Amino acid sequence: MKLIKAVDYTDMSNLACDLIVQKLKDLAEPVLGLATGSTPEGLYECLIKKNKQGEITFENTTSFNLDEYIGLADDNPNSYHYFMNEKLFDHVNIAKERAHVPSGVAKDFTEECEQYEKMITEAGGIDVQLLGLGVNGHIGFNEPGTSFSSRTHVVELDESTRNANAHFFASGWEVPSQAISMGIETIMESKEIILLASGEKKAEAIARLLNGEVSEAFPASVLHNHANVTIIADEAARSKLK
Ligand code: F6R
Repeated sequence: MKLIKAVDYTDMSNLACDLIVQKLKDLAEPVLGLATGSTPEGLYECLIKKNKQGEITFENTTSFNLDEYIGLADDNPNSYHYFMNEKLFDHVNIAKERAHVPSGVAKDFTEECEQYEKMITEAGGIDVQLLGLGVNGHIGFNEPGTSFSSRTHVVELDESTRNANAHFFASGWEVPSQAISMGIETIMESKEIILLASGEKKAEAIARLLNGEVSEAFPASVLHNHANVTIIADEAARSKLK
């Protein structure tokens, strides 16, 4: 695992932006794996800017998001569909039919999960998967204890995850208790993985990821088994590293 030491959130976002920009320039038909949450917002702002300036195009890009809350329709402002439209897709020249987010309102979730896997395979697999890091070590919404051989599946969210994400929800809304998430094996099949971490609240998780053992009790630790992982962490997120 390669560790890139960013100074702060802006630096982390810009360093990640440089890596993604290079990918978009190098690949004729890039397939990106995308994440939601606070961590990638600065990166998405940077990508929007570079797209508007004409430095990069999303014309031939396909994307697959990691996850979605169960029970939230695409147009629900708390959904990850909505988040991605607002933070990236509506502002760049990506074809919406190739910007995939798993459905939170599928009639049949077994079928939705299988279909999501099939679409990733048919796109030729994910070239670069972007990840944030849960305070409990989750990647995607794969909570501690998830099998390393999991594929796209329905998950029960940990209380800690629901609390950590409550600030995204408008008042009157509760964080759903379930989500649909790419599985750990699905994530591990990506050709390259970039994990971003910023802020003191991620310091414990970054220390455990880099210094701890590989175990299903700490999902992100699986990344030690992948040949091409880059972690970009800012000073605050690195503050508990030995
Ligand atoms: C989001 C996702 C989650 C987040 C993680 C960190 O699609 O899959 O794993 O990356 O919960 O969230 P933030 O960035 O809000 O700290």
